[in-house]
Parts: sequence; structure tokens; C-alpha cells
Amino acid sequence: MQNKIFLDKIPHFYAQKSIYFSMKKDYILVIDSGVGGLSTLAETMSILPANYIYFADNKNSPYGSHSNEEILTLLSSIINSFLSRNKVSLVVLACNTATTSCIENLRKIYPSIKFVGTEPAIKLASKTQNNILLVATPLTAKQNRLAEIINNTKKHVKIMPMPSLARSVDDFLAEKSYFSYTKILKDVYKIVSASKNQDAIVLGCTHYCFLYDIFRKITNIPIFDGNLGVAKQVKFLSEKLNFATQKYSTVRFEFSNPTNFAKQNYKKILSQILAKKQRLC
Ligand code: DGL
Repeated sequence: MQNKIFLDKIPHFYAQKSIYFSMKKDYILVIDSGVGGLSTLAETMSILPANYIYFADNKNSPYGSHSNEEILTLLSSIINSFLSRNKVSLVVLACNTATTSCIENLRKIYPSIKFVGTEPAIKLASKTQNNILLVATPLTAKQNRLAEIINNTKKHVKIMPMPSLARSVDDFLAEKSYFSYTKILKDVYKIVSASKNQDAIVLGCTHYCFLYDIFRKITNIPIFDGNLGVAKQVKFLSEKLNFATQKYSTVRFEFSNPTNFAKQNYKKILSQILAKKQRLC
């Protein structure tokens, strides 16, 4: 499977509105609060070449410190804005926080759109592990949906909310703040020491997938995330929705706070993950 991407290469003639609307492409809209969802996007691109829009709501990050109502309002206005400009029939919430907080409400509000959510990979981990440490944002940690997932597995799951880790990953990767790297290291050590009597760690936030190499330097414990499951579900739905098959992916980036740093770095980060040609976790 080719991973070549044409970033921002929307053909020039699409600028002419009449042609644009008669030839509207099917876009897959991938949303997260920041860089985390790039790990999900890369995983999806590696099995499904398609036209993607990546939206980072970096003005309102971290999502983990909002309420469910606020996240629903933010996501609805993002989706409304895209629907008025593009043909979007598939939306990927590349964010555990957004998914566990409001995906069911979004499905009710937009019945004609298919939503794929990212949930902590507890079900996957529980197939082989008994004692699981779940790290997630504070909002994900207190969701009823999470409690349901845990109850269904009948395994021991210890939840560890991380109040500032997603933010540190954004600051480090998207804004190149080296100060945040030490904060990341501190949190990773905290997680590893909390995992002492556990069989596995589940990364319940897409931002944490970028920390896999750091984890691997200090622990061999199995680590799980939900990205591959998301990618497979997106592929399945795109076939069901009869999306035209294509050889290469295109990716358009949009931001709620389009800083120059973000505009340059998101493309770079995605290209780096794809160049590695391997899963992050
Ligand atoms: N990447 C997100 C998640 O998977 C959200 C992180 C945040 O903004 O708090 O939960």
C-alpha cells in the first residue's frame, strides 16, 4: 500500500465554484483537539487512501478539561462549518475524550453522517491481559461510557487520569516547547511506576501514542491503543458508503487557531509518522 500524500494539493480548477460543487469529493473529516489524532490519521491512511481533512481544534485544547456539553457544542459547530463547504459523510473523532463524551449525541444530531469514534482499547487489551492500567484525560476517566466498557470486560482496570499530559504533547510536538519535554518525562515515569503490578497499559488518549518510544526505553509492558480498530472501521464504512477508490491520499489541514507553527508542524509530524512505516503503538 502506498503512503504517498499530496498535502494541500487540491486541483486548481476546484476553485471555480460551479465545477467544485458538481464534482464534490467525498471527504473523511478527522477531528481532534491537537496533534493526537495525527496518529489515528496515519494509521487510517496506511490502509485506506482517501481524501482527508484534518481539523485540529487547537484553540480549545485540551478537550480533557472541558465539560461534555462544551465538547458537544464545539464539535457541532466544527461539523456544521465543514458541511456548509464540503461533502462530508464520514467523520472520525480521533479523540477518546470527544468520543466517550458525545459521539452518541452527534449521531442523533447528524443522522446522515457516519461517525467513527476512538475508544480506549480496553476490550482489545482484555483479550490477553487481566490487570490493565488505563491512562486517559480527566474527562474520559469519568465518563459513563468508559464505566460500561470496563464492566463488559470483567477484568481489573485501574484508571489513571492525566490532567496535563495531552497538553504537554501538543506543546512539545506542535509548538516545539522543550520545557514540556521534561513534563512529559515526569508523567511517563509516573505511569510506568503505577503499572508495576499491572499486565498492560492502555493509552486512552490519541496524544499519548506519540510517547511509545519513550515508554519503550523504560518498560517492556504491553501497550495498547485504539488506532488500528478505528482505521479498520473507517475502511469498512468507506466501502459501505461506496467511496471512489483511489491510489493516493490527500490531506488538508485546518485549525481553529491557525498559527504558523501549527500549519508547518502538523504536516511535518504526519509525514514523519508515515515515513516510519510502522504503527506507533
Ligand atoms: N487526543 C484526545 C484524546 O484522545 C484529547 C486530548 C485533550 O485535548 O485533552 O482524548
